[in-house]
Amino acid sequence: MKVLVIGGGGREHALVWKLASSPLVDKLFVAPGNAGMAELAECADIKVEDLTRLADFAEKNSVDLTVVGPELPLTLGMVDEFERRNLKILGPSKLAAEIEGSKVFAKEFMKKYHIPTASFKVFDNQKEASDFVRSSEMPLVIKADGLAAGKGVVVVEDTSSALSTIRKIMVEKVFGSAGSRVVIEDLLKGEEITILAFTDGESISPTLSSQDHKKIFDGDRGPNTGGMGAYAPTTIVDDRMMKRIHDEILEPTVAGLKKEGRTFKGILYAGLMITDRGPKVMEFNCRFGDPEAQVILPLLKSDLMEIFLSIVEGELSLQDVEWNDNFAVCVVLASGGYPGKYERDKEISGLNRMKQMKDVLIFHAGSKKQKGRIFTNGGRVLGVTATDKSMKKAIQKAYSVVDKIGFEGMQYRKDIGCRAIRVKKKLW
Ligand code: AMP
Ligand code: GLY
Repeated sequence: MKVLVIGGGGREHALVWKLASSPLVDKLFVAPGNAGMAELAECADIKVEDLTRLADFAEKNSVDLTVVGPELPLTLGMVDEFERRNLKILGPSKLAAEIEGSKVFAKEFMKKYHIPTASFKVFDNQKEASDFVRSSEMPLVIKADGLAAGKGVVVVEDTSSALSTIRKIMVEKVFGSAGSRVVIEDLLKGEEITILAFTDGESISPTLSSQDHKKIFDGDRGPNTGGMGAYAPTTIVDDRMMKRIHDEILEPTVAGLKKEGRTFKGILYAGLMITDRGPKVMEFNCRFGDPEAQVILPLLKSDLMEIFLSIVEGELSLQDVEWNDNFAVCVVLASGGYPGKYERDKEISGLNRMKQMKDVLIFHAGSKKQKGRIFTNGGRVLGVTATDKSMKKAIQKAYSVVDKIGFEGMQYRKDIGCRAIRVKKKLW
């Protein structure tokens, strides 16, 4: 079968890598792709939001299945457009993708279906939002309603920063129309984890739990990024906790979306805080996480293409999804300046030496190839994933590879996976 993967980041490289190992897949395309993916797939230079051109491409190349990596095309209605043309595609419809596209929708949905989340209020004007924070106890979390590339959430510690955040989002419109409404909610305390789940709109098959590292600097300091590394599985989510997450969060969410006429097919991402009163939802996303995919997919024993086809056909319940017992760690290598304005066009050294290393995968994100040499071309450039029998060994292996790679200005966190050690030592 021919498969088209939409996207150009590390998540999509991991998807392409896993799909390439399926006996069902003969040919892979990716749009727009990157230098790493170009070794496994034919890259088409089409933007992820250009739904018409992407559907034209799938038609012209007789693509059997399209797999969507990022949220933007999903929230724009890519699945609806492909299905209108009878093209098979994996992902939620525009209505279902609103679970990520609108935080107001997501919060009101959770309230209606009694899904545990921080208590909240919604505002569509600055004055009422400001009056509310003046009469509330701090800290609070202020969120722009729409997509804001992971930057639309601000934790405020005092009234004056709350007021200035509201002004920036609602009046100065730093996130554009995404800030026409805001959600203001209580701050949750605990351990933040990610649960991804395959779902065909009825059956649910959760993946292993994982943990992202969102801050740029070691010790979770500095500004938020798209994610500086991840590991899986976590020790926080044992079988009992996973059952609670399934029963209290995943099941009512999938059933509720179906009831609302927004049947969700694809990968549901639940960003959770495990609090001392149980798991609570901070956000839902409508796709794989990045860099969570780079640690989850290397631990998947089953054929990903089979799983994807069963989701599209509504037959996930017939699928046995199996995981291996290893641990995976992914360390992201980012450009100088990231997550602010970052440098580009720096030559990357050391990549060739790594090709043969066992249990090490290098997933490209912002990279490009010119005359046989690889250069940086984005904020997050590479993700080095290592798997091993213990978390400690996986961490050591990943960093031993990171040490051999270099480009000018390269920055990365030195403590990816260490939270696993802090939370529970019994693993090794
Ligand atoms: P979101 O996009 O809603 O997940 O928010 C981005 C990040 O902000 C999350 O990954 C958390 O680190 C943090 N965050 C969001 N909501 C809350 C909350 N209610 N309490 C504590 N932290 C939060
Ligand atoms: N790793 C966070 C995200 O994919 O949204």
